[in-house]
Amino acid sequence: MSPRKDSKVSALTIVILAAGRGTRMRSTLPKVMQRLAGVPLLGHVLELAAQLEPAAIHIVYGHGGEMLRQHFAQVPVQWTLQAEQLGTGHALMQAMPSIADDQRVLVLYGDVPLLRAQTLRALIALAGARDVALLSATPANTTGYGRLVRDARGALKRIVEEGDATVRERAIAEVNGGVLLAPAKPLRKWLGQLQPRNAQGEYYLTDICALALRAKTAVHTLKAEDPAEILGVNDKQQLAAAEAEYRRRRARELMSQGVTLIDPARIDVRGEVTVGHDVLLDVNVVLEGPVHLADGVRVGPNCVLANSSIGPATVLHANCVVQDATIGRDCQIGPFTRVRPQSQLADGVHLGNFVEIKNSLIGEGSKVNHLSYVGDAQLGSRVNVGAGTITCNYDGANKWRTEIGHDASIGSGSMLVAPVKIGDGATIGAGSAITADAPAGKLTLARARQVTIENWQRPVKGTRKP
Ligand code: UD1
Ligand code: CA
Repeated sequence: MSPRKDSKVSALTIVILAAGRGTRMRSTLPKVMQRLAGVPLLGHVLELAAQLEPAAIHIVYGHGGEMLRQHFAQVPVQWTLQAEQLGTGHALMQAMPSIADDQRVLVLYGDVPLLRAQTLRALIALAGARDVALLSATPANTTGYGRLVRDARGALKRIVEEGDATVRERAIAEVNGGVLLAPAKPLRKWLGQLQPRNAQGEYYLTDICALALRAKTAVHTLKAEDPAEILGVNDKQQLAAAEAEYRRRRARELMSQGVTLIDPARIDVRGEVTVGHDVLLDVNVVLEGPVHLADGVRVGPNCVLANSSIGPATVLHANCVVQDATIGRDCQIGPFTRVRPQSQLADGVHLGNFVEIKNSLIGEGSKVNHLSYVGDAQLGSRVNVGAGTITCNYDGANKWRTEIGHDASIGSGSMLVAPVKIGDGATIGAGSAITADAPAGKLTLARARQVTIENWQRPVKGTRKP
């Protein structure tokens, strides 16, 4: 039986605490809106929460509340305002009135974005229906975390926050990961007993542990196998550390799917990425999903691919940017090509340096190899677009389309003033400004005839105009 279908799990309510300002970020953005892999921290926690399929998700908000509510307007959650930030225990108290006694409450912090669902499932299983459970870890750097104080036999006694810890307590290696699970009914009671008697004058959620133990409720601890999972993001250094960890994870995932990464430390994967076999990614590639890379795709250094699909054996050379595009098989793109939204490249297309394609269909085997802009256009198969060609698609008010038939050849430096059609097999002479349709199979020229001026003299320095 899958743990998700477990009836006990359906009685789970998740509360995400996200009201803090995040003073240590030194930013005008609320902390949980700081981005990790392009997504606000809170977005990562929400995605994790949804994976557990709880009965309800509550978000306790305060600082920058309007921004949060707007950003996550589509997500089915219950919003609870914590008007004054009096601590994590106080934050949870604000949500409790709308949580029934029969629920188990899983508290997550909006600034702990790297937890994995499997870890939380293990914690939920450990707590059962009646006990309390929390996640711990032994990170290399314990600064800022609450420490787990245990007795001589190793049984948990309480959690002490860093600001309240003695020197000896600060040396404790095991810290609070910021995940707490407790049955709603006693939790409500313990929250009512919290006192803000500590260095920060706050109601600490962490004091629940000692209260539960005093009430003879078992408090289980689960130590995260990988301490990176519990990384709390309070400042920009921790944000960068989380980003690096996220990058490592995604790189490992890709390699386990057979992708060759020239340097796993220099790749950024955001969102969903699917791959075929024998895909190779060179350094500094950024993939913003959904991205699909088919069999044998090779992506050169410094390429950014967003929301796009790349066909088998296609090669992107260095420094290409591809967004919202579909690219066929056996294409050669770049270096320095930009493929903008709503572009579709058929198989065997070649796009070269300083070429920009926007909202265009490029037919099979067509080539745009140098310094060109092709926008709002449809190119047939085997078209050759000469260097420096521009589809003049914009008249200052409206955009117009350019259609180019199969096997057409567009001379270098041509301006195709849309709306305009170039027939199949047509040839356009270099340097033409084409303002009317060009017939199939013929040579069309639209440029001044070359003249040579006899008896003309170059101006000489120092002479005055008459
Ligand atoms: C907290 C824990 C600490 C743990 C660490 C894990 C407490 C008292 N301490 O410390 O034991 O090791 O997280 O990362 O819980 N928040 C509110 N309202 C408030 C205060 C905080 O919603 O009044 C939210 C914040 O937005 C944040 C989360 O609660 O998302 C944690 O608060 P933070 O101030 O970052 O706690 P830490 O000092 O990191
Ligand atoms: Ca924190």
